[in-house]
Amino acid sequence: MRRWGVAVRGIGYGGDYNPEQWPESTWAEDVRLMAEAGVNLVTVGVFSWSRLQPAPGELTAGWLDRVLDLLAAAGIGVDLGTGTATPPPWLVAAHREILPVTADGRRLAPGSRQHYCPSAPAFRAAAVDLAERMARRYSGHPALAMWHVSNEYGCHVPACYCERSAEAFRDWLRARYGQLDRLNAAWGGAVWSQDYTSWDQVEPPRATPTFANPAQQLDFARFSSGELLACYLAEREAVARHSPAIPVTTNFMGLFRPVDQFRWAAELDVASVDSYPDPADPESYLLSAMTCDLTRSVGGGRPWVLMEQAPNAVNWRAVNVPKAPGQYRALSLQAVARGGDAVLSFQWRAAATGAEKFHSGMLPHAGTDSRVWREVTGLGADLGRLAPVAGSRVQAEVAMLLDWESWWALEADSHPSHLRLTELLLEFYRPLFEAGVNTDFAHPESDLLGYRLVLVPALYLVSEAGADNVRQFTSSGGTTAISFFSGIVDPEDRIRLGGYPAPWRELLGLRVQDLAPLPEGAVVRLDGAAGPGSAGRLWQDVIDLRGADPLLRYAEGHLAGQAAVTRHPYGRGVAFYLGTLPDRETLRGLVRQACESAGVTVRSDVPPGVEAVRRGDHLFVISHLDRPVELDLGGKSLDLLTSDIVGPAVMLGPRGVLVLTVRD
Ligand code: GLA
Ligand code: GLA
Repeated sequence: MRRWGVAVRGIGYGGDYNPEQWPESTWAEDVRLMAEAGVNLVTVGVFSWSRLQPAPGELTAGWLDRVLDLLAAAGIGVDLGTGTATPPPWLVAAHREILPVTADGRRLAPGSRQHYCPSAPAFRAAAVDLAERMARRYSGHPALAMWHVSNEYGCHVPACYCERSAEAFRDWLRARYGQLDRLNAAWGGAVWSQDYTSWDQVEPPRATPTFANPAQQLDFARFSSGELLACYLAEREAVARHSPAIPVTTNFMGLFRPVDQFRWAAELDVASVDSYPDPADPESYLLSAMTCDLTRSVGGGRPWVLMEQAPNAVNWRAVNVPKAPGQYRALSLQAVARGGDAVLSFQWRAAATGAEKFHSGMLPHAGTDSRVWREVTGLGADLGRLAPVAGSRVQAEVAMLLDWESWWALEADSHPSHLRLTELLLEFYRPLFEAGVNTDFAHPESDLLGYRLVLVPALYLVSEAGADNVRQFTSSGGTTAISFFSGIVDPEDRIRLGGYPAPWRELLGLRVQDLAPLPEGAVVRLDGAAGPGSAGRLWQDVIDLRGADPLLRYAEGHLAGQAAVTRHPYGRGVAFYLGTLPDRETLRGLVRQACESAGVTVRSDVPPGVEAVRRGDHLFVISHLDRPVELDLGGKSLDLLTSDIVGPAVMLGPRGVLVLTVRD
């Protein structure tokens, strides 16, 4: 990673700043209030194309010069947008063909944002031209801390199905398969009369009479993620040419299916993410914790940026519940605990006009005499005290395997059941979170040898290399826990035959003879060491034991008496298999058992709703509860936020946070 630029010391704090939406007379007040809140980093220019370039050619950027000068004078760094997230009306008028087309053939109109086809040459050329002009003008500006290319790639238009995209897809397929008969073989052309005899017959998976060819869908997902990435890369080249020392990022969206973050993150200098947990969801802190861990993981464990969150409510859900008092702070400090080195919001000043005027801002419509503003200044002060944490790493002994290609294939049509990967990841993540166990997400082909425990939730598609990697990890002493519907197909979405999961039968000491998903909402009782009351949900595998020990058996139905969850020694390690999704309590016990078998320390001193995360020499203890909670810290420690010595007994207030200095 290139260093962040001199403007940001300690933990970054700020938000999207859209001064072009306000009269220039408010700018001085903005900067004064930013200083009051401890803001040291703002994102500028993300949606400014029509103001930066009202017509093709030169920038009309005097206003932006003045904004950046003001910020630089106040010591505030700028994460500068390339401005290309939404094409301006003149570009659309000159090139209607840049408007994206949906799978059912509708051309989307301008009037909101992100209305571009990523494969459209006119769009790409205009975007690179703007990025280049921005870089030429601002690469030497003292406020410039980081480049922010486009915005939330794929958020509204993850793929385009227009004729130009179809041509680009065909080129991509030609490069991948070379020969048409290779494509026909990979896509199973013999099924449903789909053998192509010429490349120009091949189309994107547009709206069809019934479910489309899943291999075609998978390739189109690969292609579409790649087309967006090509847009990013072209802009990145343009800015990096002018400012090679300035880090370049684009903001990811957490567990967002269209964009393959492992592939993308390799092209970023610093990973960044937008995180909008729903305050109406009592467990929203779990999803946001996963988002943080994912961003750290795709960024190779290096410090990352929380690029956006809402200081209070958003405007884009059906009902937009505000954050509870203290929730903005607790979730911000969660991001720092999980390796974030900057905490930014959308947006600095709540808008008075346009589509996002009911989205909260750090400076609300009500002004500074407001709860939100008091929380904003309070958090700024907290983050100032956390400067010693900046740059430190989060060590994880546990990894969950995640592969976007498998995700795309898993959620294609015509499968035994509608598994949703995010929900499954959350099920396996919850007990780790509760036990204060740091968890990374890892690509199946990445180096796993630094972990003790690897979880494999519904890794439907796996390459030879990935399958072998899991075997090697286990045989060399690791503990592995694999769930149902893993290792089912190869990268061409072709079933691996002979009993599931073919690449891991020997590892697991079993074969799955048949898949037996449960009807929605149904449960099946389970027997075994977990005690009475255990149940399976979602799925049942019909398991033939080939050496594995059953830990739980089905207790009713056709499969009564047969193994549901197993354990098998393999080489110097151990492999667990879950042929069903156990209820939360049972899963908690199994995950703890796997942790213990792996030598991973689990905490039992963390009450529900409280999170404990170790980052470097600090232990973050964060309550997500709206009532006080008593903790036993097991000793006395220094709290970085208050400089008090606390413990062993502590009463943590509603959504209270401690950042304890740990010596070991
Ligand atoms: C996204 C976008 C921002 C803004 C926020 C609102 O994260 O990147 O421009 O629209 O959503 O929540
Ligand atoms: C999506 C994204 C958010 C935000 C909204 C509003 O839902 O997840 O980050 O951008 O759109 O446009």
